[in-house]
This record gives sequence, structure tokens and C-alpha cells, in this order.
Amino acid sequence: MAIEQTISIIKPDAVAKNVIGQIYSRFENAGLKIVAAKMVHLSQERAEGFYAVHKERPFFADLVAFMTSGPVMVQVLEGENAVTKNRELMGATNPKNADAGTIRADFADSIDENAVHGSDSLENAAIEIAYFFGEEGLCPRTR
Ligand code: TYD
Repeated sequence: MAIEQTISIIKPDAVAKNVIGQIYSRFENAGLKIVAAKMVHLSQERAEGFYAVHKERPFFADLVAFMTSGPVMVQVLEGENAVTKNRELMGATNPKNADAGTIRADFADSIDENAVHGSDSLENAAIEIAYFFGEEGLCPRTR
């Protein structure tokens, strides 16, 4: 299996619940390494740019309002099969449908405030990593 990198975002609802550490533990226990991280309060423009693919969807304005409502924690996860592994740890978009033990089942309240974002493909992971860490780059983990 290939070593991949993917973007994870802990959204404003989960940051407000003070569960960043609990979510990080899940990444680490699954063998994913954090190779970049920062807390940011997204501007409207940055949130709209990040979710541009959804701009025609009916929930777009609410999604942007939610994502700019407080700080988010953005990290790059690295490891075998990282894109899929992170999506499995997250659970389904709607927490009502998320498997027991997933991040969304345990920490999300609704489909629109669902605790975490994760890149859905390797291609999008590269785009999202560049969006957040293009200037700073990542920290290689040699051990
Ligand atoms: P999507 O890419 O479909 O889900 P995921 O985050 O699991 O990759 O949707 C992006 C975000 O848009 C989702 O996390 C929450 C929000 N959203 C809504 O608020 N309402 C909806 O009906 C859907 C489908 C998504």
C-alpha cells in the first residue's frame, strides 16, 4: 500500500467541544502521522474558495457561515492509505448514518455540523494540501 497524505479539518463545532486531542488520538492510533497543522479562523473568502465545488448546492451559504463561525484545526495526515483511512475514521457525512465508533458518530450533532472534513480522493488531497500549506510546506517525519 502506498504512503499517502490527506487533509483533515476539525470543524468549529468540534473545536468548540474541546475534542481536538481526542480526535488526534484516533489518527495516531490508526497509524496516521501529523506532518503539518495549524489553527485558523477562516474568512468568508477562504471558506468559499475551499468549498467552491459545492457553490451551486442549496447548503453552500450555511456551510460557509458554519465554517467561518469559529476556528478550525487543519492538519495533513500521512500514512498507508491515508485518504481512505481518514474517511473511515470520520464516518458518514450524516452522523445519523455514521458507524459506531467513528468521529462523526461520537462528536457530530447533524449533517451540517459534522465535526470533521477529510479529502475524498488523492487528487483532491493534493489540491487541499496546497490550499492550506502551499507556502509553509510539510514537516517530513523521519522517525
Ligand atoms: P460532502 O462533500 O458531500 O460530504 P463529506 O464532508 O462527507 O465529504 O459535503 C461537504 C459538507 O457539506 C459536509 O461535510 C457538510 C455539508 N453538507 C450539508 O451541510 N448538507 C448536506 O446535505 C450535505 C450533503 C453536505
